[in-house]
Amino acid sequence: MMIAIGNDHTGYELKMEIIKYLEEKGIEYKDYGCGKLDSSDYPQYAKDVGRAIQNKECNLGILICGTGIGISIAANKMKGIRAALCHDCFSAEATRQHNDANVLALGARVVGPGLAVKIVDTFLNAEFSGQERHSRRIQMIEE
Ligand code: RB5
Repeated sequence: MMIAIGNDHTGYELKMEIIKYLEEKGIEYKDYGCGKLDSSDYPQYAKDVGRAIQNKECNLGILICGTGIGISIAANKMKGIRAALCHDCFSAEATRQHNDANVLALGARVVGPGLAVKIVDTFLNAEFSGQERHSRRIQMIEE
């Protein structure tokens, strides 16, 4: 499994916590930035991570901005990208099972690092149920 991770300036510190978790677990990742704390534009990172999933360079993505809202709105403009903003583990599991979400969005100003890492762990370990009704609904979104 290859994870694409990207963030704006507000998400940089949380990204580093998540990267620590990924490395501890031996999960491969590609970091699409930003790597600095200066002001940056979240749509750029949504685009870079979305592209990595569209072209199958990565299987799943993690995007972080202050609220998680702007970066998930931007990612969801891209074909085939289903970005889910989750600030609890129930949603993180359900969105993989029901929506086959391929990007997890997080708000660094909303959740602390402890909860954020648990949400990431839940998201990465959950699987799409494959049930017909869920596949049908995803197909409807795509159309
Ligand atoms: C940056 O100040 C902030 O607007 C951004 O990180 C994000 O929260 C947007 O949705």
